[in-house]
Amino acid sequence: MKKFFILTFGCQMNVYDSALMEYLLEKDGSVKANSVNDADVIILNTCAVREHAVNRVLSRLEDIKGLKRKKSGLRIGVTGCIPQHLKEKLIKEKPFIDFLLGPDNLRKIVSCANGEDGIFVKLIGTPIYSELSPARGNFPEAFVSVMRGCNNFCSYCVVPYTRGRERHRSIGDVLKEVKKLSNEGYKRVIFLGQNVNDYNDNGRGLPYLLSRAAKLEGIERIGFLTSHPAYFPFEVIKVMKNEPKVEKFLHLPLQSGNSKILKLMKRGYTKEEYLKIIDAVRNEIDDITLSTDIIVGFPGETDRDFMDTIKMIEMIGFNSAYMFKYSPRRYTLANTFINNIDEKIKKERLNELIRIQSDITREKSEAYREKILDVLVTGKNEKNLLESNGITVYNKNIIVKERLEKGKMVKVKIDEVKGWTPIGTPVKERVSRGEKSEEQNGVTV
Ligand code: SAH
Ligand code: SF4
Ligand code: F3S
Repeated sequence: MKKFFILTFGCQMNVYDSALMEYLLEKDGSVKANSVNDADVIILNTCAVREHAVNRVLSRLEDIKGLKRKKSGLRIGVTGCIPQHLKEKLIKEKPFIDFLLGPDNLRKIVSCANGEDGIFVKLIGTPIYSELSPARGNFPEAFVSVMRGCNNFCSYCVVPYTRGRERHRSIGDVLKEVKKLSNEGYKRVIFLGQNVNDYNDNGRGLPYLLSRAAKLEGIERIGFLTSHPAYFPFEVIKVMKNEPKVEKFLHLPLQSGNSKILKLMKRGYTKEEYLKIIDAVRNEIDDITLSTDIIVGFPGETDRDFMDTIKMIEMIGFNSAYMFKYSPRRYTLANTFINNIDEKIKKERLNELIRIQSDITREKSEAYREKILDVLVTGKNEKNLLESNGITVYNKNIIVKERLEKGKMVKVKIDEVKGWTPIGTPVKERVSRGEKSEEQNGVTV
């Protein structure tokens, strides 16, 4: 029996695609290996979004090359966004790779694992994989892709080139996959798309999909990623507010707090328009968790432009942020811009931004003290096996000071906050003694 091992890099979409390949390989009779050393086929599912991501994969490939010398017949494949973006580089610099598969060619994983060599990177203009339901994840949580590709062509971004045009799965196929997950005991699903709020199946959009999924028994939490500010449907806010299972969490990448830079980035919104969405969301759900992505050092970004980003970050007060230095990417429009920012300045700006956001994140986490939360137990705390990890409907990871079963829902009172992590104890029901329990007072974060 063939054993395979998949190493996943990059975004949640790649995590989903790895699950898809795992599903296809298992259907073909292969089994998961325990490690790369134990595998007959090693697959690196890769990301090309920044140079750093590419370099990580290239150096990992060098480590794996050695295994090939030791084990004759070992097959090495690279899948995902790097083969789509930089196939020539891989062919030239890593000739020991047996096969390359782009994100639209993952069905080929079966024949490639079984001995077919080749480069399969055709981007296909039709919906793909819609009817396949890998229905797996990190129990009790799983991603479910609802669309693929991106039409936005933000000037810095390689994704439209690596994943092709936007294609949407049918709502029936998506719900079938969620049902399959709930039958297997999964409790949390996260719908994925590069521009998930643009999801549309014959007029039925994200708000409809969320409401339908919330009706499925067994599923307790439903999240979605990534929302794009230029296409934000305000009905989504209502569903988040009114549907208890839909997470009160919005990841809304800002990228820059300066409208001139946003225009150069081709993001399709101004700083004022972005703020309007934040106001609308907070008007309805005042304690919503907000997170964002920021790029510093985009070509032409002056100190003043960067200060606008800092001001926005301070004004909005995101619960968390993913912050990056601009990384020039081949084929993108911004790669032709000439006024590039010095690496040293990019680094300084990134450090300053991280410093400021860290304080905000810490401050936001402090607010959890004394609160009583509904928590989904996601696993054991690796640092203390007597404790569990959990997540709230506000998408905040917390630690529970008790060993509990994965997938269980518990009420937890937060006693302390360490760094950014609230830590608490399960609340025992006291209702039978005629007292009003704290959870009945309804403080939930
Ligand atoms: N579809 C999502 C995110 C895709 S990539 C969206 O539109 O927001 C994830 C993040 O990587 C982006 O939000 C952006 O902040 C960052 N990113 C993309 N290309 C980059 C580049 N060339 N350099 C630095 N960061 C980049
Ligand atoms: Fe990239 Fe923009 Fe598409 Fe996001 S919306 S994947 S940043 S092109
Ligand atoms: Fe990376 Fe591809 Fe995702 S470039 S961020 S793995 S879509």
